[in-house]
Amino acid sequence: MTTPMVKTEIQGRVALITLNRPKALNALSNELIDELAEMLRKFDADDDIGAMVLTGSEKAFAAGADIAAMQGWSYMDVYKQDYLGGNWESLKRIRKPIIAAVSGYALGGGCELAMLCDFIIAADNAKFGQPEVKLGVIPGFGGTQRLPRAVGKAKAMDLVLTGRMMDAEEAERCGLVARVVPVERLLEEAMEAAATIASYSLPSIIMAKECVNAADEGTLNETLMYERRNFHALFATEDQKEGMAAFVEKRKPDFKHR
Ligand code: CAA
Repeated sequence: MTTPMVKTEIQGRVALITLNRPKALNALSNELIDELAEMLRKFDADDDIGAMVLTGSEKAFAAGADIAAMQGWSYMDVYKQDYLGGNWESLKRIRKPIIAAVSGYALGGGCELAMLCDFIIAADNAKFGQPEVKLGVIPGFGGTQRLPRAVGKAKAMDLVLTGRMMDAEEAERCGLVARVVPVERLLEEAMEAAATIASYSLPSIIMAKECVNAADEGTLNETLMYERRNFHALFATEDQKEGMAAFVEKRKPDFKHR
């Protein structure tokens, strides 16, 4: 039997997903991405899960796409398989929140995978970078697009063109990561944040994620209207009645996720 490249564990309404290819520093092979996509889709469809945490090992969240696999590929090989499309691209369609809990290296596709998650909590030993230029290529899984949106053009150009790594402190300063915590606290902090998210009404959480993501996609007028209409739509949920009644009655809400 082959060892799974993605391990999962459920704690309450939170699914913890751990990349498990330690010998290659969690290099993202197509096989690993297929397993990851399958797990994310499974939890996305599971009514008992409200949020997910994606993590790697202490040494590496993921050191990028699998260079050993890619090295012999021709243009036709990558074009015909639509490399980085397919299951790779499908990861952005997960509707429930995913927190990336990043320890160690998050390089190339690893940094791109972390950025594809909804936010990043980094351990103080984390290192982020887009070193593809050192291999004669460029980022291909969102690095040239999501990085400037997260950190601005100057810092993104610096990282993409020099291929240098930045540490967790710099990553927090420039807005790539939401929080930095001591490495030994990483999973606890990420799981606590995910449990908090999962305790809220799921429809409101999914709409909140969709609205924040829309900020990158339309004009301000369009996306403000999109936000307002989603806000209106939540008044059709039982959980809006429950959440507001609980506040007025000074008790904890009992959300039913509908
Ligand atoms: N692909 C395949 N294997 C990798 C890998 C990768 N991206 N990164 C590391 N590994 C493997 C190494 O080959 C090595 O395997 P062996 O033990 O069999 O030799 C093992 O993982 C451990 O790596 P190192 O010995 O290199 O560990 P280190 O501590 O000396 O260095 C590192 C760590 C700085 C992260 C270094 O491994 C490194 O630079 N890795 C490559 C980073 C990179 O270039 N990433 C971008 C890939 S391209 C991409 O991602 C394109 C895209 O946009 C999708």
